[in-house]
Amino acid sequence: MRLLRNNKSSVSRLALVALVSVSSCFLEVTPAIAKAPAKAQPAVLTASAIAVADKYSADAAEQIFKEGGNAVDAAVAIAFTLAVTYPEAGNIGGGGFMTLYVDGKPYFLDYRERAPLAATKNMYLDDKGEVIKGMSLFGYRAVGVPGTVDGMWEAQRRFGKLKWKQVLAPAIHYARDGFEVSQQLQDRRDEAAKDFAGKTNFDAYFGNLKQGVNFKQPDLAAVLTRISDQGAKDFYSGKTADLIAASMHGHGLITKADLVQYKAVWRQPVQADWNGYRVITAPPPSSGGIGLVQLLKMKADLAPDFKDVPLNSPQYVHLIAEIEKRVFADRAQYLGDPDFYKVPIAQLTDDAYIAKRAAEVNPTTPSDTKSVQPGLGTSMPEKAETTHFSVIDKWGNAVSNTYTINGYFGSGVVADRTGIVLNDEMDDFSAKPGVANMFGVVGSDANSIEPKKRPLSSMTPTILTKDGKVALVIGTPGGSRIFTSIFQVINNIYDYDMPLPDAVAAMRFHHQLLPPNTIFWEPYKPIDGELAKQIEAKGYTLKGQDFSGDIQAIKVNGDTPEAAADPRGRGVTRVIQ
Ligand code: DON
Repeated sequence: MRLLRNNKSSVSRLALVALVSVSSCFLEVTPAIAKAPAKAQPAVLTASAIAVADKYSADAAEQIFKEGGNAVDAAVAIAFTLAVTYPEAGNIGGGGFMTLYVDGKPYFLDYRERAPLAATKNMYLDDKGEVIKGMSLFGYRAVGVPGTVDGMWEAQRRFGKLKWKQVLAPAIHYARDGFEVSQQLQDRRDEAAKDFAGKTNFDAYFGNLKQGVNFKQPDLAAVLTRISDQGAKDFYSGKTADLIAASMHGHGLITKADLVQYKAVWRQPVQADWNGYRVITAPPPSSGGIGLVQLLKMKADLAPDFKDVPLNSPQYVHLIAEIEKRVFADRAQYLGDPDFYKVPIAQLTDDAYIAKRAAEVNPTTPSDTKSVQPGLGTSMPEKAETTHFSVIDKWGNAVSNTYTINGYFGSGVVADRTGIVLNDEMDDFSAKPGVANMFGVVGSDANSIEPKKRPLSSMTPTILTKDGKVALVIGTPGGSRIFTSIFQVINNIYDYDMPLPDAVAAMRFHHQLLPPNTIFWEPYKPIDGELAKQIEAKGYTLKGQDFSGDIQAIKVNGDTPEAAADPRGRGVTRVIQ
């Protein structure tokens, strides 16, 4: 898959897991869009700070802070700007999750895509019941109903201080007047285009995305201007909805009824106490928050085993892989959309349960993969390319946001006359129990396709607080590597006392139960030489992968925020007085 491969690789993303080595104002602002005058609030930090995926979204956030906006205003401006200047993953044609900490309280907004009303459980299977390769990844039938615009609308309306038009203005500017294309963006475009050739209209919109070009998107500017004037309703029931439905007609499943019915949902975040911190993270339909809490707590339970074990040594890699085996066994069995399945969140994050799982870890050799079963018993629960940015304002409010169109440039479908790149999030469903998706992860009926259901995600926007104050804002893209990457960086910071930039840059690796005893490594910091030999001697197979995330993190030291953008991407940080 494209997100997990480097620019030189020509391997299809289907083969990813086997990769070896590697403002205009036409209308008056309606009362719903206008904001009440902001109350003066005392600053508690010396500055606001951001860690974002590119320099244009950093400029947008800086402008919003200068206009008096808070972290939520900045986050919404960043999200719309990235939809223009980071089109491989930034989006209004996808969905995501936002974890917030506002006025000392945690919140979580789920604006994940939903399956269209016409979706069916076996829609990606042929008449022999086999998965049709690529169908959930490329083209019109891969697209889920987008949630980003409603998510941003909900968040800004509830918590923003500025006018809606102010937070849309930077994105409209970059769409209308253009931005300069980076080499990395061109490389990602060129790779993605190979998968879309002959299947979608991708090249008609993005054929000219070449390094150094000032790239303008007039159709997208018109969409953003309508959203700025009319709010989210343009996207879900107005002219933009009509254009999306018309593009899909005869090709895909999404109709105007799907768009009209879409709603972002406020959910309770997953919360856990760990190491003196409160971890506030993503609940289902993400698997990531539960996975992160299990990883952190299991490692804490195994503190005696980790004593004197150097970071990223063969023994460290072994112990972490043992923990990850158990986390991914639970992920495959119990996780799905909580509106369709009663996900046993409390049981999966319960201290006694996690301690029992930790006790099953074999401290010396890899546990047999088949012996690692879901920990709550095998009965089914009752029915019932991504980018991340982190923001904190000087009032102590924080936003951790991960959103996605799944693979780079999503399905490759651009809704006609809109410039909106549509997602391929349907691939995150389990098309058939036990058959791996793009990220090599399997699922059960808990994550089978049903109309209006949200596919299981790994996105894990996370905030750590201490004594009621934000201590860390963190997240990353990377599919199933997301929460294992966040886990490693948190470990580096708090268990191994690394400075934030070093903690973000340090080597990362990944294991996910299947393929058996396989440790994935990354080109940025390869596992090779003596380290590789010693890990192999323990019984593991090493495989290269092309992507290990793009962490964007902010740590608060006393009353001063410090931000770090992953050197693996083209991210930018700013500390804004
Ligand atoms: O929701 C998920 O878990 C995936 N669709 C995220 C995709 C992703 O992170 C791609 N980035 N490498």
